[in-house]
Amino acid sequence: MTTITLNLIDYDGTARTFSARIGRSLMKASLDGGVDGVAADCGGCLTCATCHVVVAPEWLAKLPPRSADEEAMLDMAAHPREPGSRLSCQIQLTPELDGLVARVAPTQY
Ligand code: FES
Repeated sequence: MTTITLNLIDYDGTARTFSARIGRSLMKASLDGGVDGVAADCGGCLTCATCHVVVAPEWLAKLPPRSADEEAMLDMAAHPREPGSRLSCQIQLTPELDGLVARVAPTQY
């Protein structure tokens, strides 16, 4: 398996299902997939918090834990953090994430 399927909901509620390469970050895969609302201003350097997504509860256990730096950046995100909040640039796609469901935070600024 070299690709997996992602199910993302844009900031405006539009549902998108698309394929993404394993090893790519969720942020870059979202941009590749035309998902609206992921700004990713820093390009994945973990300095902007504009790649905020909220992962569906049933997928949270399959993700690596947040680093201390991700935790700190989430505290500065424009949309208040939720239990499933993650910075999508910090999630590397793995086979275990095939079918992942997440929604883009309603605002990144
Ligand atoms: Fe800037 Fe994720 S793209 S923190």
